[in-house]
Amino acid sequence: MPATPAPAPLTGLLPGKVVLVTGAASGLGLGIARGLLAAGAKVCFTDVDEKGLAEVTREAGAQAMWVKLDVTSEDSVAKAFAACVAQFGTLDGLVCAAGIAPAFNLIDYPLDKWELSLRINLTGYFLCGREAARYWVKQGIGGAMVLLSSKSGLEPSKGNSAYNATKAGELHLARGWAAELGGKGIRVNCIAPGNVFEGSKIWNPTYIAERAKAKGIKPEEVIPSYIAQTALNRDIKPTDIANAAVFLLSDQARCMTGQVLIVDAGQVYAR
Ligand SMILES: NC(=O)c1ccc[n+]([C@@H]2O[C@H](COP(=O)([O-])OP(=O)(O)OC[C@H]3O[C@@H](n4cnc5c(N)ncnc54)[C@H](O)[C@@H]3O)[C@@H](O)[C@H]2O)c1
Repeated sequence: MPATPAPAPLTGLLPGKVVLVTGAASGLGLGIARGLLAAGAKVCFTDVDEKGLAEVTREAGAQAMWVKLDVTSEDSVAKAFAACVAQFGTLDGLVCAAGIAPAFNLIDYPLDKWELSLRINLTGYFLCGREAARYWVKQGIGGAMVLLSSKSGLEPSKGNSAYNATKAGELHLARGWAAELGGKGIRVNCIAPGNVFEGSKIWNPTYIAERAKAKGIKPEEVIPSYIAQTALNRDIKPTDIANAAVFLLSDQARCMTGQVLIVDAGQVYAR
């Protein structure tokens, strides 16, 4: 099979648009934030990890700013959105990417990890989506949101109760918001990525060891085993997901709302 390199970032689709991204210090949030910059947007990088934010934006230029945002705190969300609007003058788009994936079998699943997953993956998306919608409705300017769900929101993974439930919940949040906010010119879509290993802290050695145990294989076999599950036998890169986000936030997707763009190299529906 011919090797295919990671795609180049889409350019020119978001000139001057202001987009706030949560979870932008690492992994897919970071990959998307960088893709948005390449597409011409002004990007507000947010995360709880201030050190990480400072590092990843050090050479990003005047089109980028960063501000601490804990998605579980109403106060933190309000302050970060206000800081973004104060610096860039407006807000056109939101990408919710901050998420966690504590993996345990059901009979061992700790209540605190379940509750934390709900707070970050669901309440966090709710608080940020509500803040963006409040701004857009008040200004009467419309807007676009992208919620990063997962293929696990479509097809549950073993030993991952909270992740499965929250990622499925995000899909339904988006559909409800799309219906509720369409009349205000606000579009809400999801991306359901397959497994993306590059740069992700979710795919840390402990998580890989847990996945290996759940699958009955060695840790070094985990990543190849996931890639082999895709119809294209392809390692999905952050740019693949970033390009989907750029498209969904752009006017090219002006007639798309309430949708799920699945970027999984052919895993969930191509078997
Ligand atoms: N990597 C994958 O394989 C994959 C696949 C499908 C979907 N996703 C989704 O992509 C998103 C990011 O995953 P990732 O793999 O890049 O993870 P990651 O751990 O590399 O990045 C997540 C970021 O979220 C931040 N964060 C955690 N709690 C927060 C909070 N309370 N407030 C604000 N920020 C907080 C972390 O500091 C981190 O920078 C998640 O929503 C995940 O469900 C990932």
